[in-house]
Amino acid sequence: MNRFFPAWLRVPILFFAGLGAMEYFIDSGDHPAVIKYPILWVVLLIYLFVLFAFEIMMSSIHSLSWQMMDEAKRAEYLATQNLPLSQQPFYKKIMQWLTKSKSIEAEGEVMLNHDYDGIKELDNTLPPWWVYLFYGTIIFAAIYLVRFDVMGGYTQEDELRDELAVAKKEVEEWKKTAPDQMSEDKVTLLTDAESIAKGKTIYETNCVACHRADGGGQIGPNLTDENWILGGGIKNVFHTITHGGRDGKGMIAWNTTLKPTQIQQVASYVLSLQGSNPKEPKAAEGDIWKEAGAKPDSTATPAPATTETPAPADKPIALK
Ligand code: HEC
Repeated sequence: MNRFFPAWLRVPILFFAGLGAMEYFIDSGDHPAVIKYPILWVVLLIYLFVLFAFEIMMSSIHSLSWQMMDEAKRAEYLATQNLPLSQQPFYKKIMQWLTKSKSIEAEGEVMLNHDYDGIKELDNTLPPWWVYLFYGTIIFAAIYLVRFDVMGGYTQEDELRDELAVAKKEVEEWKKTAPDQMSEDKVTLLTDAESIAKGKTIYETNCVACHRADGGGQIGPNLTDENWILGGGIKNVFHTITHGGRDGKGMIAWNTTLKPTQIQQVASYVLSLQGSNPKEPKAAEGDIWKEAGAKPDSTATPAPATTETPAPADKPIALK
């Protein structure tokens, strides 16, 4: 046995099997159990110590029995030691137990009277490994039947439903901390009062200095007319506010200050000012923007206008 599974293999394998079992059975969340519960290092150390102690004990028993053997016994022992695995007594014993096969000499006992042109038939007993496996499947089937079909156990459908419920919760959790999912491709014009009001607050805090409270324009252009330097429509306006205007003009990129959803709100607010005709507006700059029309400034407005689908009132766009 020692020859096929020596101590230098036995100890590490048993040690790591123990470690693996510990990690598997101890619920320690995201961290390995040994990190979460440092006391486990002590347990591991004791386990390793026991493994070594066991090895030492076995080897002393071995040498003791060697001492007690006489010459003939020793020779016999050495002879079996050097046999290949399939000739080892322990291996033969196991195989015999699993197969109950008759040795060639005893085959006469199970020989049937059939003789097909010299081919003979043996009536061997079914090998126990097979028989027990078969009994096992019968027991399994009976338990399964009662558990799931008679008592109405936890079916695959229930399992799916539970997993979906858990997944839904996890998505909710994730959304709370996830980075803002609004982006230029997804942005739509918000028209509900709540979003417009939020947009207004953001506008009043950040934008009035240059665009005036009524959007009539001062340092920055008039935001209430149909003319746009950098393109109108929610996508272009979102783009302009996110990335800023042309270099040196004074309109900074707001993506470091405002979250994408806030930019969506303020852009929607800006667009809600369309046609509000404030007093003393700044003269129109840029081209007249027509929805789904040609881009007025091809260098500064990469986002093509698409037909907009306004969100239904009082229902903010769900962030996916
Ligand atoms: C420091 C002054 C300044 C502030 C503050 C400012 N802007 Fe501007 N904004 C400008 C200037 C200048 C331009 C013109 C940029 C250009 O010509 O490229 C501009 C352009 C724009 C445009 C594009 C107009 C067009 O005709 O294409 C939008 C939309 C806009 N700003 C919205 C905002 C919003 C929303 C805020 C607040 C979050 C804001 N701006 C804050 C100066 C400012």
